[in-house]
Amino acid sequence: MIDFEAKVVLVTGAAGGIGRATCRMFHGAGACVVLADLDGEGARRAAAELDSSGDTAWSIAHDTTSSADTDRVVAEVVARHGRIDCLVTAAGVFPPRPILEMDDASWRTVMAVNLDGVLYASRAAIPFMEPGSSMGHIASVAGHRGSPMHAHYAAAKGAVLSLSRSLASELAPLGIRVNAVSPGIIATTMTDGLMARKGDMILASTPMGRMGTAEEVGGVICFLASELASFVTGETVHVNGGWYIAS
Ligand SMILES: NC(=O)c1ccc[n+]([C@@H]2O[C@H](COP(=O)([O-])OP(=O)(O)OC[C@H]3O[C@@H](n4cnc5c(N)ncnc54)[C@H](O)[C@@H]3O)[C@@H](O)[C@H]2O)c1
Repeated sequence: MIDFEAKVVLVTGAAGGIGRATCRMFHGAGACVVLADLDGEGARRAAAELDSSGDTAWSIAHDTTSSADTDRVVAEVVARHGRIDCLVTAAGVFPPRPILEMDDASWRTVMAVNLDGVLYASRAAIPFMEPGSSMGHIASVAGHRGSPMHAHYAAAKGAVLSLSRSLASELAPLGIRVNAVSPGIIATTMTDGLMARKGDMILASTPMGRMGTAEEVGGVICFLASELASFVTGETVHVNGGWYIAS
């Protein structure tokens, strides 16, 4: 029941650790995957690893903070495939910043990538999503618990959770499901700095005693998009080895 044969999946932030792993998993289950990222060259390489012909995996440079650019990306996907069966929003940034140094520009940048981008991609994709389609938005444990030195990030991710639930209610009559995934500490370049500063403490307070892999997040996203989760909408799945419940 995890079969995405002939399905069209658009992933933002697809050159990143979680985005790439998610694309690999969808593609491995038969999907045609479109990899969008600000890092156009990274997205191109990731797509080529999946399908060098470009038939079932292709990339597009994309700035998720721009609604016009996001409309352009969606228009290109629709021009090529006619519809979008699954949207995954994985673009994100996680820069540390103490609250007293959080100037307007740093606040705005983090909100723009992590929150505005989710709205822009969802809003652009909805008209091209048929009944049975779905969205998976990547939030974070920070959106539930807050995150010291990352108040902007935690605020954006908390808003992604409530945006997802609102979309789930609003889009259910159209047959579109919307769910969120909240990863804990996952081994990608995004967490290198945090692990260098506080890794021992974080692992000690994680019942499973390790970081997660990008595939362990991608697998949950695929499950939520699949027929196995056909009655699941408005939900958030935590992927954190028990970190959330333990601390
Ligand atoms: N790694 C973790 O531990 C963790 C934990 C919780 C949540 N998350 C979330 O998971 C998602 C993926 O993170 P990751 O760990 O793969 O990080 P990553 O840094 O490997 O990937 C993030 C990707 O987003 C892209 N991006 C940044 N700004 C962009 C923009 N303006 N437009 C388009 N793309 C842009 C980057 O180029 C990069 O490829 C993010 O939303 C992140 O907040 C990650």
